[in-house]
Amino acid sequence: MGIQYLQESSVFHLQSKNTSYAMKVTKQGYLAHLYWGRKVSGHGLERLLELQGRASFSPNPDLEELALSLDTLPQEYPSYGGSDFRTPALQVQLADGSTVTELLYASHRIVPGKPALEGLPAVYTEQDDEAETLEITLKDEHAGLQVMLSYTVFRDSDAIARSARLLNTGGGPLKVLRALSMSLDMADDRYEQLQLSGTWARERYIHRRRLVPGMQSVESRRGSSSHMQNPFVALLSEGATEEHGSAYGVSLVYSGSFAAGTEVDQFHSARLFAGINPFDFSWLLEPGDSFQTPEAIIVFSDQGIGGMSRTYHDLYRSRLCRGTFRDQARPILVNNWEATYFNFDADKIESIAQAGSELGIELFVLDDGWFGKRDDDRTSLGDWFVDRRKLPNGLEDLVARVNRLGLSFGLWFEPEMISPDSELYRAHPDWCLHVEGRRRTQARQQLILDVSREDVQQHIVSTISAILSSAPITYVKWDMNRNMTEIGSAKLPPERQRETAHRYMLGLYSVLERITTAFPHVLFESCSGGGGRFDPGMLYYMPQTWTSDNSDAVSRLKIQYGTSIVYPVSSMGAHVSAVPNHQVGRVTSLETRGNVALSGNFGYELDLTKFTAEENEIVKEQVQLYKNIRHLVQFGDFYRLLSPFEGNETAWMFVSKAKDEAFVVFVSVLQEAHARLSRIKLQGLAPDKQYRLEGSDGTPYGGDDLMYAGMPTPQFHGDYASRCYHFKALPSSMKKE
Ligand code: DGJ
Repeated sequence: MGIQYLQESSVFHLQSKNTSYAMKVTKQGYLAHLYWGRKVSGHGLERLLELQGRASFSPNPDLEELALSLDTLPQEYPSYGGSDFRTPALQVQLADGSTVTELLYASHRIVPGKPALEGLPAVYTEQDDEAETLEITLKDEHAGLQVMLSYTVFRDSDAIARSARLLNTGGGPLKVLRALSMSLDMADDRYEQLQLSGTWARERYIHRRRLVPGMQSVESRRGSSSHMQNPFVALLSEGATEEHGSAYGVSLVYSGSFAAGTEVDQFHSARLFAGINPFDFSWLLEPGDSFQTPEAIIVFSDQGIGGMSRTYHDLYRSRLCRGTFRDQARPILVNNWEATYFNFDADKIESIAQAGSELGIELFVLDDGWFGKRDDDRTSLGDWFVDRRKLPNGLEDLVARVNRLGLSFGLWFEPEMISPDSELYRAHPDWCLHVEGRRRTQARQQLILDVSREDVQQHIVSTISAILSSAPITYVKWDMNRNMTEIGSAKLPPERQRETAHRYMLGLYSVLERITTAFPHVLFESCSGGGGRFDPGMLYYMPQTWTSDNSDAVSRLKIQYGTSIVYPVSSMGAHVSAVPNHQVGRVTSLETRGNVALSGNFGYELDLTKFTAEENEIVKEQVQLYKNIRHLVQFGDFYRLLSPFEGNETAWMFVSKAKDEAFVVFVSVLQEAHARLSRIKLQGLAPDKQYRLEGSDGTPYGGDDLMYAGMPTPQFHGDYASRCYHFKALPSSMKKE
């Protein structure tokens, strides 16, 4: 790891273990992008900057150097108004109404470690020697604007963290219209763009498309990162696979409206960018004020998409997620949502917990419906006091009853919401996001609290804290079930209304910081109708997310596979639910539901009291199996073997860091007559180790045999069939090392 500044050539060369990233200050002072990719020694990097005169439609800012146009110069943080017509990273309006800015290099410094981002989630270091940070200051003297670009390289990760901080150094106000987190110009456009898109109950499906001239981007205008698009894109060398080819990932650490994508210009260079969505955004910077963009984590891998994913997994698991549970085994839970919906009482809950206790389940989670007068989803959000009709002796009594059975207790909240039919709304009708004189559009018959307001933030912190202090609650499911409409705040002046959505996110992050640090023993799981806010921003505060409201085992293959492109498996909640499945109506076996859910933070979401004796035995085995392999699932390396997007069969596996244990899951969706015989090649094992398959006669398999020759795929009779395999290295083969 290291950051070098080569004075003679004004080149910055950032090196991680396997990658290099290089920039150059041109003689005019522009910050040009030179290179990002496989590690190089860096001799003559400046030669990569080839300036080529183009037609007069690419204008020239410097008459001494007519080959230079900002329209063709590969840049690090392009601004609008000069000779660059491509999509800018920055657009600022000055007091005179103009929107022209020109950023020139002013200074730089290199610091050990990684400074925190004020008020925003970000990747962090625990020791200064884990990373080094380069801060480059660019200035527009005329505007009185300073932009500090930050680049962190890590000792143990091939990731780079990028962000920008704007400072108004002038005497008048500046209006930021656009301030992306990162932008960089790839020399050519011979890539495919990968994105993760979907909808509610079908989140993060993988889509790949060849780059073509023009804009190819994803965005959310919903006030949250959304089910529809994830704040992530990757450029892949043509034909890149899980194991081969180059992958350049960009992941935005943000939970609000975002934009990310690639613009291919007239000369076939590709501008990759990500940041807060400039649509309906602006930010007023008074003299002396600063604005910090969210962070983008960029990852290069020449080991295919799988290599890129594992870099994200390791970094996000260990240096984005925080708190007591970051490195702790996550409990097996049972959640009552699909078991009872709103229709439960204390005895019913206790009976489910009792069944859970006999099956070896560790945590009971009480979902929606325990507060206010909430018998359906039309009322009571905001009234966070126990519904004594359902729980006559209160929460403390219920928690004690569950605890006595040997299970810990978790509770559902939807703290950012307010039902029009609630005591809170009757007391504070202006506490929701709204625009005076306009309709307040409801979704699920609820409105959104204006979390940009300090008084609303304080109210959320104190009400949720009071409940968490009232009983030994060790887990919280933090839900959020709608997107923003009529985005406005009663507290902000007209010229700041377009700041509301981002201020909401800052307010939410502040609330989460306060609550999660006050209750370090509580495991927080975020949720937004399943995976509507499955993003790195939320993972900073809550180390796991309910992956999707779709709990069907077959649907989950694509959802979990797509999610794993960026997010570690330790961040994904995965539960066994009842059949016919409540979302898609499919009937799958208990074995397959278990085998798919075992590849996540495992749990059950059905009425455990309804199992037959035979099902009880299957579940006991599943629970025991998960206890045996959860260290692999939650902390091992993840390899995708067969894609559900490409065929009838899905396979993935987990390997311990020491390569002494592995767990493989194989699922065949539809059965075919006389299906072709095939072999599945494992990955990530030690070729020179021998492995024993648990539950077999003990005949050893060579790691090399399993990876290079493979193993026969199982033959099934019937649809939605699956099998899993648990390998352990033989101690004798381990000694060979
Ligand atoms: C949406 C969540 O995704 C579900 O799991 C459940 O908690 C419901 N909300 C409760 O309203």
